[in-house]
Amino acid sequence: MIIGGSASQDLAAHVARELGEEIRYVETRKFPDGERYLRIDGAIPEEVTVIQSTGYPQDENLMELLFIIANLKDLGAKKVRAVVPYMGYARQEKRFNPGETISAKIIANLIVSAGADEFITFNIHEECVLNFFSIDAQNVSAMPAIAGYINKKYIKKEKNDPIIIAPDKGAYGFAREMAEIIGCDCTYLSKVRLGPDKVETRIVDVRCEGGDESTVNVDAVKGKNAFIIDDIIATGGTIVNAINILKQYGAKTVDVCCVHPILTNNGATRIYEAGADKIIGTNSLSSDTSRVSLAQSIADVLRK
Ligand code: R5P
Repeated sequence: MIIGGSASQDLAAHVARELGEEIRYVETRKFPDGERYLRIDGAIPEEVTVIQSTGYPQDENLMELLFIIANLKDLGAKKVRAVVPYMGYARQEKRFNPGETISAKIIANLIVSAGADEFITFNIHEECVLNFFSIDAQNVSAMPAIAGYINKKYIKKEKNDPIIIAPDKGAYGFAREMAEIIGCDCTYLSKVRLGPDKVETRIVDVRCEGGDESTVNVDAVKGKNAFIIDDIIATGGTIVNAINILKQYGAKTVDVCCVHPILTNNGATRIYEAGADKIIGTNSLSSDTSRVSLAQSIADVLRK
């Protein structure tokens, strides 16, 4: 049985359809004072999968997830899988400054304490967050879904000359994974310190493992259809910077892909304004850009 929380209704319905499983509705509303009411009607089977992202409004969505898990356990479920395609608070996985709350650890503890037996997420910001879960925790890659989508929808149809770009070294693994699937080149942008007060972002050599960050490969993107890939787009600052560089170095078109389209603070507008043709996100979070469905990927993981 599949249950979709308010934040992941379409995804849950598509996963259930994909697996031929029952989808069960959750009745949830607010009391006049703002507190949450939640009810799951009908008999509860032994195994249940709950699908609920915990993006904005994070606290609301998280509380609903915890209520669903704890209620299912209380109503007799033996095994509850929590599929949280986007895990909110995962970016604070350590104390960057003394005294800070390690939010990701607290959220992991809450999900486990609520009664989850398994946790599944997509492209979590830092893999080490999985260690905060004392239950089986899996990090699934959305790259096959994203690469498959752009390959079918644009690259093959428009017969273009693609290159996959990571906007920083941290995202290079995503670019490599996508390039491998599509069968094209990839590279990453690197920040180079040229002097005490001068920093420049550069294109590192194509397929140059580790890269020679002291030289700019001016021809890497010239005339190419560049597809930028990142895990998260929040304010869009990282991507706008990348678009500007790719345009400067002669990219023919620039499209932007990501797993989690948070797109806050007019992020999407700024990305289009910088010259991107399309923003292609997944439905880990619901937005205008959520074009790639993770339903098949989730169904594949659940089948295993
Ligand atoms: C950073 O390490 C992440 O991979 C993203 O690049 C970052 O979260 C994007 O943030 P923004 O869109 O605000 O630049």
